[in-house]
Amino acid sequence: MKRELPDLEGMRILVMDDDVAIQRSLGRALRGLGAEVGCAGSLREAGLKLESDRYDVVLADLKLRDGEGLELLPLFQKHHPQGCFYLITGHGSVDNAVTALKHGVRDYLQKPVDPIDLASRLSRDMAARHGSVLKNRLDPYLLFQDPVMSEALADLPRFAALDEPVLIRGETGTGKELVAMAVHRISPRATGPFVAVNCGAIPESMLESELFGHEKGAFTGATKMHRGRFEQASGGTLFLDEIGEMPLQFQVRLLRVLEDGEIQRLGSEQRVRIDVRIVAATHRDLNEDVEAGIFRRDLFYRLDVLPVQLPPLRERKGDILLLAGHFLRRTFEEMGRDSGLPTFAGEAEELLYRYSWPGNIRELRNTMTRLAVRIPDNMQEISAEFLQKLLPSPGSFQDGKGGDFIPVPADATLAEAQEILIDAALKRSGFNRKLAAAMLGLGERTLRRKLNEK
Ligand SMILES: Nc1ncnc2c1ncn2[C@@H]1O[C@H](COP(=O)(O)OP(=O)(O)OP(=O)(O)O)[C@@H](O)[C@H]1O
Ligand SMILES: [Mg+2]
Repeated sequence: MKRELPDLEGMRILVMDDDVAIQRSLGRALRGLGAEVGCAGSLREAGLKLESDRYDVVLADLKLRDGEGLELLPLFQKHHPQGCFYLITGHGSVDNAVTALKHGVRDYLQKPVDPIDLASRLSRDMAARHGSVLKNRLDPYLLFQDPVMSEALADLPRFAALDEPVLIRGETGTGKELVAMAVHRISPRATGPFVAVNCGAIPESMLESELFGHEKGAFTGATKMHRGRFEQASGGTLFLDEIGEMPLQFQVRLLRVLEDGEIQRLGSEQRVRIDVRIVAATHRDLNEDVEAGIFRRDLFYRLDVLPVQLPPLRERKGDILLLAGHFLRRTFEEMGRDSGLPTFAGEAEELLYRYSWPGNIRELRNTMTRLAVRIPDNMQEISAEFLQKLLPSPGSFQDGKGGDFIPVPADATLAEAQEILIDAALKRSGFNRKLAAAMLGLGERTLRRKLNEK
C-alpha cells in the first residue's frame, strides 16, 4: 500500500544524537519531506544552535556525550515556547517519563525511528498545536483570522523578501516581537541567525560594546574579545526592539553604522563589514518623538522604510476566541492535563469581547493561563461568572459601565487630583500613553506635556 507522504514544508527540526549515522539518515529523510534540519552531536553544540536559531522541533537522544538530552528542554522552551520537544529512547522503560511529559516533553519515541511515521507524527502535532495557522502559511506561530489583522500583515511576505529595514509599531503585547521573527523566518535570511536586542534594557554605557563588540583589553574587565550583536546576527536578522528607547546620543552612532554597513569593535581600528537585515519595533509614537526632538529624524527615516502597524486586540476581536482557545490548550498541555478543553459559554465570550485588553495578547495569554489553572477537571463550559473573577474591574470594559473608585483627598489641589487620575489611568492602561490619554479624555500630546510637567 502506498503511504501518503507528510509535508514538513517550512518546519525547522534539530536532531540531537551523538550517533552520526542517525543524524545523517534522519536528516536526509526529513529534508526530503521539506523540513530544514540542523544536527548536533553534543549538548553544547545543540545549546549553541538553539540560542542562535529558531527550531520548531527538537528530537533529542536520551543520552549524549556530555549529558542528557532532556537538559536542553528549558532552553528550548525559553527560546521556542511553542515548539515540540521529543526524546528518542533506545530501550523500553524510562524512569522519569511522566515527570518529563509534565514538564513539556511532547513524547518519547522508540528507536529505531521510522522516518515516515515520525514525519506524520510531527506534522500532526504541529498542526494541532498551531491550530488554523498552518493554513495561512505566513508563519506557524502567528495566529490570526480577523480581517483587520490580515490586512495589517498583507505586505509582510513582500517586505520579508526585501532586505530593507522593517519598522513594526503597536501597543504593548500586540505581537511585535513575534512578527519580527515571522519576517525573519519567511525571508531569504531564514537560515541565518535571528538576534534580538532590547534597546531600552541596555545601560547607555554598555550599548556600544553590546552592539558593536569589543577587543580584549578595550576597557577594564574586557578580558576577552567579544563580538557584538551586529556581528552575531551576520547573515541573518537583527531585531532592534524598543528602538524608541535608544538614547539620543547613541542614535547618531547607530545611524552611521546603518549607512556605512560597517562597524568597529571597541578598541579596534579595523572596520568589519556587516551583513544584517534590520527589523525595529516600538510601542511609542516615533513621529511624535521626532517632533519632540527625542528621536533623530534622520534615523527615523532610515528605519521607517517598510512599516507594519499592529492593531490592538480590541480592534481585532475576531482573534480573541482563537487566541484564547490556543493559550488555554497550551496551558492544559503544559500542565499535562488530558481532560477535554472546556468551551466558553455565550456570556463568557461576550465578556471576552467587551473587555478592552489594554495589555493586548500578552494580557489575554496571562489571563488564560490563570484561568486554566483554576478550571476544575469536570468543567465543560466556562461561565461568565467564573471568568469574570479573573478580569480586572468593570472600569476597563469598553462600554464604560461602572468604573474604578479612585480616592482623591478632599484637601487635594487640582494639580494633585490630576496627578492621581493620570497615575491611575496609566496603570489601568498598562502604561500605554495613548490609551491612558483616551481614558482621561485628553490628546496624547496633552498627556505627555502633563507628564513632563510632573
Ligand atoms: N498573533 C499571535 N499569535 C499567537 N501568539 C501571539 C500573537 N501575538 C502575540 N502573541 C504572544 O503574545 C505575547 C506578547 O507578544 P510580543 O512579545 O510579540 O508582543 P510585543 O508587541 O513585542 O510586546 P511589548 O511591546 O510589550 O514588547 C507573546 O507571548 C507572544 O507569543
Ligand atoms: Mg516586545
